[in-house]
Amino acid sequence: MTQDDYVLVNNQVHAMIADEPDALACAANFVALLFSTIDDINWLGIYVLRDGELVLGPFQGQPACTHILLGNGVCGTAAMTRETQRIADVHAFPGHIVCDVASRSEIVVPLIVADELVGVLDIDSQLIDRFSALDQQGIETLCDTYCELQAEKKNFI
Ligand code: SME
Repeated sequence: MTQDDYVLVNNQVHAMIADEPDALACAANFVALLFSTIDDINWLGIYVLRDGELVLGPFQGQPACTHILLGNGVCGTAAMTRETQRIADVHAFPGHIVCDVASRSEIVVPLIVADELVGVLDIDSQLIDRFSALDQQGIETLCDTYCELQAEKKNFI
């Protein structure tokens, strides 16, 4: 995807979420929109921070592990450090948690609302080194838009 493509998707995220007051409905549509737009991916979903651990939320793809402790795997590392993890080869990431054996690269972006970590967005690809720096920037912007709009609602999910 080009930078222009990401701008278009960002506009779609805004249009889809701005006027829908139910946060869960917005989360479900957000992952569906991204999964159908970003090419060469096999899993995309949100893990929500609940009682100090990450719990599986809305997603598209194969059934996945339901609980991830902070600091564990790529998702738990992104949650603990609050920094995006862009992993070119998941087999080279110590502690990577396998959910779909087809996954070869992964990007996980922390979701932060009003300075609080609320979860992470996890995207897996069947291709090695699928996510470029441009993808990272585009996906982080999508997550920023999503979090800003969700912050106005009663619950994050
Ligand atoms: N690979 C992730 C686990 C979640 S699945 O990929 C959907 C991790 O290492 O945290």
